[in-house]
This record gives sequence, C-alpha cells and structure tokens, in this order.
Amino acid sequence: MNKIIIAAIARNGVIGKSSGEMPWHVKEEFRHFKETTTGSPVIMGRKTFDTLGKPLKGRLNIVVSSVSPKEIPFEGMLYFSSLEAAIEYCEQEKYPKIFIIGGGSVYRQSIGIADEMILSYMKFDAEGEVLFPDFEKSSWIITNEVENEQFTVVYYSRKEGSE
Ligand SMILES: NC(=O)c1ccc[n+]([C@@H]2O[C@H](COP(=O)([O-])OP(=O)(O)OC[C@H]3O[C@@H](n4cnc5c(N)ncnc54)[C@H](OP(=O)(O)O)[C@@H]3O)[C@@H](O)[C@H]2O)c1
Repeated sequence: MNKIIIAAIARNGVIGKSSGEMPWHVKEEFRHFKETTTGSPVIMGRKTFDTLGKPLKGRLNIVVSSVSPKEIPFEGMLYFSSLEAAIEYCEQEKYPKIFIIGGGSVYRQSIGIADEMILSYMKFDAEGEVLFPDFEKSSWIITNEVENEQFTVVYYSRKEGSE
C-alpha cells in the first residue's frame, strides 16, 4: 500500500495558522488536491479535521486523536488513537494507496514512513505558525513537476533503502 503525503507549502515553509486556518485559498490547488485524493482514504490530525468541519466527499475520512469521540460526528468517518493503527487498518482493508493530508504534527510523524510525497510549492510567502517539516532531500527522487500559475506540484518517491 502506497502511503502518500500531500501538502501545500508557502515559499517560507508555512502550511497553516495555529488557529487552524489555512492562510490562502487557491482554487486550482484545491482542485488538484481533490482530483488526486478522491477515491482513496485520507488520514488527518484532529486539528485539521476541526478546521475542515466536515468530511471530504468521496473519500474515507480517517482522523487520529488521542481522545476517542463519544460519538462519531459524521457517518462513515473513522477515528484511530494512533497513526500506526490508522495505517494498519487501511493495509488490512487492502487499499492500494492512502493519502496523509496533514497537518503539521501528522506530516512530521509520517515523513519517515511515507513512500511518496506530492507537494504543492506555492509561489508566495504566507503568515502562519505551522510549518512543513524539513526532510532529507537526498532520500527522495523527483518523478514529476507540474507548473501552475500560483504553484508548482512536485512528485517525490522515496529512494529505495532510504529512511
Ligand atoms: N497546507 C496544507 O497542505 C495543510 C494540510 C493540512 C493542514 N494544514 C494546516 O495545519 C494546521 C494543523 O496542523 P497541527 O500540527 O496544528 O495539527 P494536526 O496535525 O492537524 O492535528 C494534531 C492533532 O492530531 C492528533 N494526533 C496527531 N498525531 C497523533 C497520534 N500519533 N496519535 C493520536 N493522535 C494524534 C492529536 O489530536 P488530539 O489533540 O485530539 O489528541 C493532535 O492534537 C492547520 O493550520 C491547518 O490549516 C495545512
């Protein structure tokens, strides 16, 4: 099962505000995110789900939280108490690929185990406190780059044997 990180990163490394808000709204980038992830499970941190407010359509929404909710807020969603448990569930269900969609803390924990990354590099700086984690560039191969007016999408695959 391919574990794929997908994120949008401002030029200064910002991915969001600590209040939960996304500092920008770029329709084209959101369309790319939707087209790429639709049909596959998406795993996210509880704070990212709070920001979304409702599940993303056409995808199994999986939230990780140390607190199990008294009631699952929306039908069809799943909660897990660890990232490992969420990934293991998807492996058991034989999903060919899953997307890890943030936020900062979940990216930090998954960058060492992801097989691929699809990173949208926005062509502007943004205000915010949540950053995408630094990663070892030499552990990854760039397989494709797609240019858009306001962002460049870079596709990474982990080099065999790299951590
Ligand atoms: N630019 C992008 O592509 C992008 C994508 C997604 C999000 N964002 C931004 O990122 C920000 C949110 O990131 P964040 O780092 O503050 O929060 P987050 O990663 O979305 O959520 C953190 C929460 O997830 C739960 N969690 C994380 N790891 C866990 C684990 N191993 N086991 C159990 N629970 C775990 C905990 O929930 P509990 O506190 O309930 O235990 C933790 O407080 C927002 O500003 C959002 O807009 C940006």
